[in-house]
Amino acid sequence: RPGAQEWVPEGAGIPKLRTAAEACRGCELWRDATQVVFSDGSASARMVLVGEQPGDREDIEGEPFVGPAGRILSEALEAAGIDREGVYLTNAVKHFRFERRGKRRIHEKPGVAHVEACAPWLEAELRVVRPAVAVALGATAARALLQRPVRIGETRGQVIEGADPQGTPVLVTVHPASLLRLRDQQDRAAAFQAFVGDLERARELIG
Ligand code: URA
Ligand code: SF4
Repeated sequence: RPGAQEWVPEGAGIPKLRTAAEACRGCELWRDATQVVFSDGSASARMVLVGEQPGDREDIEGEPFVGPAGRILSEALEAAGIDREGVYLTNAVKHFRFERRGKRRIHEKPGVAHVEACAPWLEAELRVVRPAVAVALGATAARALLQRPVRIGETRGQVIEGADPQGTPVLVTVHPASLLRLRDQQDRAAAFQAFVGDLERARELIG
């Protein structure tokens, strides 16, 4: 099948996967991106958090969740009593997809083809880390982990068996960037609390 598979070294740990991903040509997104953004955190983490794709800051720095969405995620993890250093952070798609408007780079959602092409990396990461729970941050991550379309409004807060060979328990929640889009402060505070509630549930699952 087309996609990342041929670049994924068999039996590799996270450091080897990270290096190998630099050479991935499994879809066209590597072409315009600055660099691949692989993951952050410990390979022995009990909790994996999966985002959509690196954003503008992440593309420049080469690390996931270092921009505005990452800031909200850090605040929510802290409020849920989860140590960010103790979790494994990654994305469904490892290269930044964007549209150029003059000097600006505007985030563009990855397509289903990109999610499918990039899935072998995420599968390999789950095989190595074997977490007690994988948190799907938004619809793209949920699609990658469950290998079917997911409506966040209907499934958030639920724990569903992942489509990976281990059947990793997947807790579906919102993407932290969705909170940034809420203009009303009360709406945003309520959405933040609900997000923290989902993360607390994930924390209970890791014991
Ligand atoms: N949003 C994501 O989904 N992932 C990141 O790494 C940063 C922002
Ligand atoms: Fe490979 Fe994923 Fe980057 Fe596409 S987005 S080139 S599949 S690492």
